[in-house]
Amino acid sequence: MAPSDSRSKWAGLLDLTLDRASDQPLFQQVYLLLRGAIVAHALAPGTRLPSTRGLAEHLGVSRTSVLSAYEQLLAEGYAVGHPRSGTYVSDDVPPAITPVEPMAGRLDEVPRRALSAAGARYGAFGATIGPVADAAFATGCCSIDAATVEAWRRIGARAMRGLDPLNLSYADPLGEPALRQEVAEYLRASRAVVCDPDQIIIVSGAQQAIDLSIRALIDPGDAVWVEDPGYLATRSALTAAGARLVPVPVDEHGLRVGSGIAAAPTARAAYITPSHQYPTGAIMSMARRLDLLAWAAETGGWIIEDDYDSEFRYVGRPLASLQGLDRSGSVIYVGTLSKVLFPGIRLGFAVVPKPLVDAFRGARFLTDRHPPALQQAMAATFMHQGLLTSHIRRMRQHYREARDVVVDAIGRHMGDLVDIEVPECGIQLVVHFKEPISDLAVAEAAARHGVTVRPVSPLYIDQPARQGLVLGYSGFDLHRLRSAAADLARATRSAAIRGLA
Ligand SMILES: Cc1ncc(COP(=O)(O)O)c(C=O)c1O
Repeated sequence: MAPSDSRSKWAGLLDLTLDRASDQPLFQQVYLLLRGAIVAHALAPGTRLPSTRGLAEHLGVSRTSVLSAYEQLLAEGYAVGHPRSGTYVSDDVPPAITPVEPMAGRLDEVPRRALSAAGARYGAFGATIGPVADAAFATGCCSIDAATVEAWRRIGARAMRGLDPLNLSYADPLGEPALRQEVAEYLRASRAVVCDPDQIIIVSGAQQAIDLSIRALIDPGDAVWVEDPGYLATRSALTAAGARLVPVPVDEHGLRVGSGIAAAPTARAAYITPSHQYPTGAIMSMARRLDLLAWAAETGGWIIEDDYDSEFRYVGRPLASLQGLDRSGSVIYVGTLSKVLFPGIRLGFAVVPKPLVDAFRGARFLTDRHPPALQQAMAATFMHQGLLTSHIRRMRQHYREARDVVVDAIGRHMGDLVDIEVPECGIQLVVHFKEPISDLAVAEAAARHGVTVRPVSPLYIDQPARQGLVLGYSGFDLHRLRSAAADLARATRSAAIRGLA
């Protein structure tokens, strides 16, 4: 092949340019450009590639960069070398893919018939999910201080350096034994949960524990008690799975067990947040706890206890878990590191009665096999070194201060408009409007003022909906919380005036 001939075949390469501002090494850019041209058949099979020196000069890179790119093309079979003759595009490159003509009509419209009934329900819920909010008063945001950041970095760096082969292969669907051991010790000591490590399943947050509970325990059509008002994500998961929701009212003593029994005595399960009812903040009284456990023992109903943020208690000692009182193996205890550490970690745990372990193990395997091993190893080390408990101690002080700042600032800026429910624990509080003001309208106005609040009224099912707002105070500095209270007051007054107009 005459040089001028081959030069014309790779003439297109002469237009190639490299991005010198990119983080990508130059040799890799040269390799990708050549590979792209070969795969697209811009360089036909059998074409002789330019000499490494010639291409290096043309592109203004070192010859080593071009040599490395050619070596990679040779190693991957895109090019073949002929001794003393040069490097050629391989004959073996698959033909270029012919672009398919777009189909008439809209490809993004999935026909309704393609969804199962459950799929349609998931779709209805999916359409309501908005972007993740991080403006002041958004719920579910957490603070981590410099000590925890530093500890997490150190543990992460060590885990990556060591890269234990055990963390690279398939693992136990129930979770890493070391982490389950730490979680068992932590729950026994701090929440009076009665458990062995072999009853613990590590999950990707409380939401997955709820999902696995539904898979293992609930059939479509089964009645399930839910708190009214209550936590929307669990309610939606139950609805999507085809369960029949039985709303049970909540008062200052928590779930009204008698009302649940009257409405659906043989319900399959009850989902509750006894240590800090969501959203009211009520703590379930001992009498109600015992009534609920007696109902479960008598009827065989399951209790799903969501203990989502009980660690942050500001008055007295934390109340023991409901699970710790259970003598009939009825309680599935659900905990999460989302609130106690940070939500992005996506780690939580369920403690299940021993006869349920296989069902949860199977459901976990068949949904996503097991939790990521490296992340679990890091969490186990964090807990083993006592860092979780010291983090909780520090954050408890910080969140208590944040709560007090919000109570004070809301009282000063809008005390005439709302009643503030001062929580004894947790990372959010509820305010209720004294006058008939629409919480949905206030939430919209607040968003325009750069504040994210959750209206309370959509959390009710059957009970007369109260108008109020859930305010998260855990993810923001005190200054931001103070100015957000002033913004929220302005937004509420503007919504109230508009409501009267
Ligand atoms: C009642 C309740 N349970 C559980 C969770 C936490 O869920 P996850 O652990 O999946 O982040 C939340 C978070 O907002 C919650 O409000």
